[in-house]
Amino acid sequence: MNILVLGGGGREHSLAWAVKQNPKCDRLVVAPGNAGIAEIAECASFDINDGGQVVNFAEENAIDFVIIGPEAPLAAGVADRLRDAGIAVFGPGREAARLEASKSFTKEICDAAGVPTARWARFDAPQPAKDHIRARGAPIVVKADGLAAGKGVIVAMDEATALAAVDEMFSGAFGDAGAEVVIEEFMEGEEASFFVLCDGENVLPIGTAQDHKRVGEGDTGPNTGGMGAYSPAPVLDGEVAQRALERIIRPTVAEMARRGTPYQGVLYAGLMIRDGEPRLVEYNVRFGDPEAQVLMMRLGAQALDLMQACAEGRLAEARVNWAEDHAITVVMAAKGYPGAYEKGSEIRGLEALPKDSRNMVFHAGTARTDGRLVAAGGRVLNVTARGDTLAEARDRAYAMVDAIDWPEGFCRRDIGWRVLG
Ligand code: AMP
Ligand code: GLY
Repeated sequence: MNILVLGGGGREHSLAWAVKQNPKCDRLVVAPGNAGIAEIAECASFDINDGGQVVNFAEENAIDFVIIGPEAPLAAGVADRLRDAGIAVFGPGREAARLEASKSFTKEICDAAGVPTARWARFDAPQPAKDHIRARGAPIVVKADGLAAGKGVIVAMDEATALAAVDEMFSGAFGDAGAEVVIEEFMEGEEASFFVLCDGENVLPIGTAQDHKRVGEGDTGPNTGGMGAYSPAPVLDGEVAQRALERIIRPTVAEMARRGTPYQGVLYAGLMIRDGEPRLVEYNVRFGDPEAQVLMMRLGAQALDLMQACAEGRLAEARVNWAEDHAITVVMAAKGYPGAYEKGSEIRGLEALPKDSRNMVFHAGTARTDGRLVAAGGRVLNVTARGDTLAEARDRAYAMVDAIDWPEGFCRRDIGWRVLG
């Protein structure tokens, strides 16, 4: 089978790595890929957000199956174009991708399906939004309605911050994403992420994870795309996961099907859990980054079979071959991230590290210039390990971190602290 993966971050490196291990995979192409992906797959260059270009490439290269990594091509309808052309694809169409692309759409679905989530209201002008904030008081959450690269959410612990967030969003700081603003009740609890595959009708859980969004140790400092993650998430144990499935995921998937826009792909539910009761924070219509890295490390080659069963509507008969294992990933980022950082610094020492089913360094923002491996982004490496316990996985991941020679990079030393202390 010839497989095309769209994307070029650590998430896509881990997807490509898992797919590549499956004997069904003959040819593997990743667009655009990165320096780490280039070691295990062919990299191709075209606009992955342009459905026409993706279909052309797939047809010219006899691609049998396309796996879409990031949200932008999904929101742009690339999966629809591939399906229309008769090419098998893993990922939701444009309408179903609104579960991530529009916060108010998700809230409407939640209301229609009776899904527990924060109370909310939508505004298209600043004054009523501010009146609402003054009436409700802080803490309160202000969100740009559209896709804002993970930056459109302000959790305001005081009223002044919330009011300033409204001004910022309506001033165009988030472009079109901020033309509408959703204001939500602040939910307390512990956050965890639940990943399920959906084939339009059936759902299959494939793992849980927790990530560390803040840049600093102890979960302090500014938000990032994620500084590390681990799987499984103990707070989402069997019973809580079952509740999330029955009260949140299944009703959402049923509502999407009822509307004639069935959901196909991975559904990533961000949950807030208090006293064993999960409520929905948000949906993403793709794997998390860096959560995919720990999920792929645990699933390995079967990930391809599961994604194929999902795309072909065969999830009812699919099973996950679970192991009693744990995985952790530590993100190494360029100093300065998530603020300004330099590109081009050299990274040494990766060749000597193990690369096997228990130890992998996935590349995010890397490039190769004149044979040297250099940093080419904010989040640069995802040092990932699997073990019988989380502590074992953590120790091996940090041993790899310590063997990497990259003075211009940094990482958090406390990934997994909620579980490991
Ligand atoms: P989102 O982009 O919607 O995931 O929001 C980013 C982060 O903001 C989430 O991961 C939560 O930590 C936080 N957040 C979002 N909505 C709420 C809410 N209603 N109550 C508390 N925290 C929230
Ligand atoms: N790590 C969070 C995300 O991928 O949205």
